[in-house]
Amino acid sequence: MNVADSGHMAGILKQDGYEITQNEAAADVVLLNTCSIRDLAEEKVFSKLGELKERKVDEPNLVLGVCGCMATNLKKGIFKRAPYVDILCGPRSSKHLPRMINDVFEKGRSQVEVEPNEALEEFLPSVRESAFKAWVNITQGCDERCTYCVVPNTRGDQASRQPQSIIDEIKGLAEQGYKEVTLLGQTVNAYGLELAEPYPFSKLIESIQAIDGIEWIRFVTSHPKYVTPDFIEMFAKFPKVAPFLHLPYQAGSNRILKRMARRYTREEYIEKINALRAACPDLNLSTDIIVGFPEETEEEFQETLDVYKEAQFDSSFCFKYSQRPNTPAMNFKDTVPEAVKKERLERLLALQKEIAYVRNLKNLGKVHRVLFENVGRKEGSLRGHNQYNQVVISSGGPELIGQFRDVLIVENSPMTLYGEIKN
Ligand code: 5AD
Ligand code: SF4
Repeated sequence: MNVADSGHMAGILKQDGYEITQNEAAADVVLLNTCSIRDLAEEKVFSKLGELKERKVDEPNLVLGVCGCMATNLKKGIFKRAPYVDILCGPRSSKHLPRMINDVFEKGRSQVEVEPNEALEEFLPSVRESAFKAWVNITQGCDERCTYCVVPNTRGDQASRQPQSIIDEIKGLAEQGYKEVTLLGQTVNAYGLELAEPYPFSKLIESIQAIDGIEWIRFVTSHPKYVTPDFIEMFAKFPKVAPFLHLPYQAGSNRILKRMARRYTREEYIEKINALRAACPDLNLSTDIIVGFPEETEEEFQETLDVYKEAQFDSSFCFKYSQRPNTPAMNFKDTVPEAVKKERLERLLALQKEIAYVRNLKNLGKVHRVLFENVGRKEGSLRGHNQYNQVVISSGGPELIGQFRDVLIVENSPMTLYGEIKN
């Protein structure tokens, strides 16, 4: 999501005549696109700002902006810790950037646009790194209000783009040679529900399935609550829907799930992934988990491990609970000591590794479809992703970049597969 947002920021500025540089020291305008999801993410930005402050001494005209979720989360509070920042621009306000940069020179510092519910732009220009894989934002914001999460505050309520605008953008991408699209939304599978004329996610996927040139469709992040029969059926019905799903469960205990306001039980979650695996037997499943949520007991953490074992995830992102300002969970005391959070995280990561290793063994001797993206670290090698969204390395020349090939998998490591191109 943040990479895609940075692409939009670059696209908006480029359209206005700015040039994007990879050389930070040469930039006249430095915009940090930030994340507020955990405290550590914000602290990293303050330390980067401290570094940039030094440059301002010799280059008083350097324009420094804090964009993204920290801008809407901390608002002018950022000026308290970093008074030398010129621009605060929230995740839904990027279209104002060209004007704000001008205003820094014409009207003075401290330009601020931090309305989390700013009206949705149907289409934003984008600078994309890849010429064949594209991220496409289909919703902004989130209506879920999970109690630990800052996103509804920083990105506002859910607003979906019109289906036709998304389809036109993807048709345009296909014409330019794009082969894979990843649809983005905080709860991507709740797409279209709040539109004046509700438009189901599965119908949107059906329309994208019909676009010539697009061969793989992915989407992140799905919420278990919106895993409905038509959503499950997509994996069997639409061949372009890649057999990969990121479906956070966050915690295994029903009491904790309730306190998180996740709005499903452990049993419902398991039932849904069983149905998904019945529709798509080779589905690759990944998830997000939080350990050490307020009052989580050892037994409740055990339930998180039990769900992991039962669901047999291929990969996961695991986090220690981090208390966020202005979230409903601020009303709960952050009771689990840091050392216990750390120890639970380590146990979870050990389980993750063990299960991923065993699940990965089944890939040996199989042929995967791979879209090659760039040259590998070793000379004469190529790197890409298979249909399951796993990294695959194979020998091959750069002329194959941007192309699909069938690859025989011959070697495994926990995160990467190694193979030989068959045809
Ligand atoms: N503390 C720890 N992890 C969090 N996440 C969201 N909010 C918090 C928080 N306060 C995690 C969730 C979410 C992922 C993007 O970040 O697991 O799915
Ligand atoms: Fe945050 Fe929950 Fe919305 Fe995800 S679904 S962005 S965790 S509030």
